[in-house]
Amino acid sequence: TLPRVYVTRKVPKQGLDILRTSAQVQIDLWDSDDPVPRQELLQKVKGCAGLLCVLTEKIDAELLDAAGPNLKVVSTMSVGFDHLSLDELKKRGIRIGYTPEVLTDAVAELTVALLLATSRRLIEATHEAKTGGWGTWRTLWLCGYELANSTVGILGLGRIGVAIAERLKPFKVKKFIYTDVAPRPELAEAIQAEYVSMDELARQSDFLAVCCALTPETQGVCNKKLFAKMKNTSIFINTSRGGVVNQEDLYTALSSGQIAGAGLDVTTPEPLPTNHPLFTLKNCVILPHIASASYTTRNAMSALAANNLLAGLRGEAMPKELRL
Ligand code: GLV
Ligand code: GLV
Repeated sequence: TLPRVYVTRKVPKQGLDILRTSAQVQIDLWDSDDPVPRQELLQKVKGCAGLLCVLTEKIDAELLDAAGPNLKVVSTMSVGFDHLSLDELKKRGIRIGYTPEVLTDAVAELTVALLLATSRRLIEATHEAKTGGWGTWRTLWLCGYELANSTVGILGLGRIGVAIAERLKPFKVKKFIYTDVAPRPELAEAIQAEYVSMDELARQSDFLAVCCALTPETQGVCNKKLFAKMKNTSIFINTSRGGVVNQEDLYTALSSGQIAGAGLDVTTPEPLPTNHPLFTLKNCVILPHIASASYTTRNAMSALAANNLLAGLRGEAMPKELRL
């Protein structure tokens, strides 16, 4: 009998087709757009050789113990891997697939859209237009901040940060700066970005885009110390993970006018409860984690996740393996 793989979500067709036509595995699918209940997941992974998951599933010791020693590969349909307990996977010798690169363009496009929506107050503006606030044309009404001649700061320079900068450059950005655990000259060169300290990033950025992975080191680094150093005309953008931000501190910075606005595609928790204080702020634009959500990209992510899984189960090099 073929090795069994559990697929925790109705992933886009390209990926499912690859698994179905492979004749290499037997698929067990949670055939829904909503997450599999934890108890169901713990039952279904028992004895599986492979697991294809998405970012709502915690892949931790409990789950890996429930799966048992047959589990060889965990393939996540995401570039982020903060939902995986890396130590536990490593300890068990389980290989990990993920989906970098295929989503870079989609995430960069959405980040630019969110940045402009926030800095030029688009959500507030459409609301005014349709609810009677549009009394007349007014000189400073709904004014925002422009990219031309600005300094854009990137917190965590990877492929996505570079792709965002490449797209912002034609808007006549004056200067790109970035910080990371260490300089990344090979990436920075393409966008002529200057490496600065976290303090300088906060001080100089007119737009600060968070593009780092969520790790123990980046957890909560966007906190009141950082916001206090930012200009009160600055815009904060996060399309990485909510955990990088201390949301109470962000709320205070936004409501007190310490910073001008924030655009968030990611929050803690997700979904953010509809009664969350951040939703009461006009200068905070919140999206429901859609940065990679284009048809092309989500299909490519599912195909890559399926190919990672199959290659890993064959004991071959995966197209995109997360090496620990
Ligand atoms: C989305 O957030 C991803 O990690 O792919
Ligand atoms: C960004 O870091 C990516 O993996 O695409």
